[in-house]
Amino acid sequence: MRMVDLIEKKRDGIELSTEEIQFIINGYTAGDIEDYQMSAFLMAIYFKNMTERERADLTLAMAASGDQIDLSAIEGLKVDKHSTGGVGDTTTLVLGPLVAACGVPVAKMSGRGLGHTGGTIDKLEAIEGFHVELSTEDFIKQVNDLKVAVVGQSGNLTPADKKLYALRDVTATVNSIPLIASSIMSKKIASGADAIVLDVKTGEGAFMKTHEDAVELAKAMVNIGNAVGRKTMAIISDMSQPLGFAIGNALEVKEAIETLQGNGPEDLTELCLVLGSQMVVVGGGAETLEEARGMLEEAISSGKALEVFKEFIASQGGNAAVADDLTLLPQAEFVTPVLSREEGYIAHMEADDIGTAAMLLGAGRATKDSEIDLAVGIVLHKKVGDHIAAGEAIATVHANSETIAKCVEMIYNSMEITNQPTEKKELISALITE
Ligand code: URA
Ligand code: CA
Repeated sequence: MRMVDLIEKKRDGIELSTEEIQFIINGYTAGDIEDYQMSAFLMAIYFKNMTERERADLTLAMAASGDQIDLSAIEGLKVDKHSTGGVGDTTTLVLGPLVAACGVPVAKMSGRGLGHTGGTIDKLEAIEGFHVELSTEDFIKQVNDLKVAVVGQSGNLTPADKKLYALRDVTATVNSIPLIASSIMSKKIASGADAIVLDVKTGEGAFMKTHEDAVELAKAMVNIGNAVGRKTMAIISDMSQPLGFAIGNALEVKEAIETLQGNGPEDLTELCLVLGSQMVVVGGGAETLEEARGMLEEAISSGKALEVFKEFIASQGGNAAVADDLTLLPQAEFVTPVLSREEGYIAHMEADDIGTAAMLLGAGRATKDSEIDLAVGIVLHKKVGDHIAAGEAIATVHANSETIAKCVEMIYNSMEITNQPTEKKELISALITE
């Protein structure tokens, strides 16, 4: 086989065979195919798309390019949840113990935050003593015992995706549905999930700016998952404003604990119940989404979910007492309100600017190697649709520096206030089950 012939085939819109796709991915991972040919191939995919069969083959070839985690020693169907990236998205912290409390195992591999989006591992490390370095044996044992464990991403997972993603970044081929879908799904499959629930974000703070694009991406991923034998469902959720009220690591842990206690923000709670219902169904814990939702609500109201959270934290070395005493979390030195300069209704928020403001405070990383401050962040007091009086606090900044004027301006400028009443944002705009 010659790469030039396969580029030509894709350029002319002809479907590639399984063997041809494997040849390309294996050759590129091994360094036998050069970046210039791969770039042309990616651009051909960008314009000519891929069939469902090609997408599934591409996903499996990328998943097979490095380590594949074997979770077969864990009893039951292992469910993974993936979000395409948001601001203040605390769902994983809530969903792990919540779904585990319903008997469905959650063996989660998570990442750290970068840029305006946060990462689950950073958030969990805001709990004193908590660590994510578990051996495979301990990881499996903990999931069998408690039904939930969270570890950091292992070394050599999907090297083909790492190389391809870097190349796409500089060849204007990131924004292609078959390439995004196969990139995300290859990582889920290599990390051993039997069943996958996807939270595809849409809005200014998200990858997919429009509802239509988000639905297309979600359907592409659900098709890939089901085609390769992993039961997959998705939702489309709004990311035009941050999720919940808190943005920042310790602040989001507090919000997650409150949600497990049944006192969380309405949007975060609802998102967790909807995603959690899908996780319980694809994990075989319930027949219908309604039945699953009832189980999750019961796990919150009975205190079971919070109990599982404490066991999970303690099992990974963390101080579980935080669940009963939120002041044990890192606290910022300076707590300053951002006051509204006018009366009106919140019409719009720029989620990514708020995420960037939190990053500048130190809650997130500007580059991969930046140090973060677990205590700092932003707590919103208003969401889109809410009324605000002049002089009322729109948000509170938690900082460890007195020089926060730029951040305060950024938060204030990210909000649009009008004198007409505005509609609340619809949180979940689609449910994609097949
Ligand atoms: N996230 C990924 O992991 N891959 C993409 O291609 C886009 C977003
Ligand atoms: Ca939040």
